[in-house]
Amino acid sequence: MRRIKVKVRHGYEVLVGRGLLKDCGMYIKSGDTKTRKILLVSETNVAPLYKDIAKASLEKEGYEVTEYIFEAGEQSKNLDQVTKMLEILAGNAFTRTDAVVALGGGVTTDMAGFAASIFLRGIKVYQIATTLLAQVDASVGGKTGVDLKEGKNLVGAFHQPSLVICDVDLLKSLTDEVFAEGMAEVIKYAFISDEDLYEKLKTKVTKDSPDLIDIVARCVELKAYVVEKDELDNGLRQTLNFGHTIGHVIERNSGYKIPHGYAVAKGMALISKKSRISKKLEEMLKLYDLPYEDPITPDELIAGIMSDKKKRGSKITIALVNEIGKCELKTIEPTEIKGYL
Ligand code: GLY
Repeated sequence: MRRIKVKVRHGYEVLVGRGLLKDCGMYIKSGDTKTRKILLVSETNVAPLYKDIAKASLEKEGYEVTEYIFEAGEQSKNLDQVTKMLEILAGNAFTRTDAVVALGGGVTTDMAGFAASIFLRGIKVYQIATTLLAQVDASVGGKTGVDLKEGKNLVGAFHQPSLVICDVDLLKSLTDEVFAEGMAEVIKYAFISDEDLYEKLKTKVTKDSPDLIDIVARCVELKAYVVEKDELDNGLRQTLNFGHTIGHVIERNSGYKIPHGYAVAKGMALISKKSRISKKLEEMLKLYDLPYEDPITPDELIAGIMSDKKKRGSKITIALVNEIGKCELKTIEPTEIKGYL
């Protein structure tokens, strides 16, 4: 098992390994003796596979576990679900020393993390990430939140987890499409900051690859470095948004039918159209069966970017890659995006 430290104000570890889920209670307990009650949050695809294993391990360590299972999918990532979680926490008299455990992909980790961030002005959250995307990105770094109909992740808070568990064995149950979505974020890390990772990815990584622990751990290390330098997303962390400015618009305009990882793949390819790395990026996206084209028009894109939560004043900062492993940030007016397409 690999242990990666995220050295922020409330530092924590990310565990990456195999067979970790069945001992999740033990890993949580080893750093937390105060918690008595746990709200275990999961969704309808993940719960039938893994909820009982997680619950048994938590109860074995003496935790009193309450469950909250919501309908899987981005359409559930809203304030109504958060209200329901808060009411369960309050109704079961959770206190400041109790905790939320998220068991799922990015929707679950973002939403459970947000409920934890605002209940009693903040209780602990433990993230057990079950998708590749959540393991390499969503569960690490403390971004939590929900969508509004006006846009993705428009309501949220920075709330670092107390521990993140990435059990790569859980990735075996992902569909090829959901695994590929996570690979879009892995490819992002390679292009923005790690040429060696790019070389490694040229040999197709699959759910059964023996080096999956190394790949996930490398991405977590890269993310930890960025989050340590810029926890609150005012500078370096914005490089992690490579492909996301356009991706979020594509995702929302599709009514969330185009999943996040696919939208990010398209977003990276579109913003890189005039870059030297464009061909190499498209080749890699093809290798992982990821899309790299979208019929969105420049005007639709600009309209969508106008409501991006990362807009500051009238401007938006975009992440650009002109050389593999190096990312630059550029602050532009939304209309200037046309120049990149
Ligand atoms: N997902 C990008 C970030 O955590 O900053």
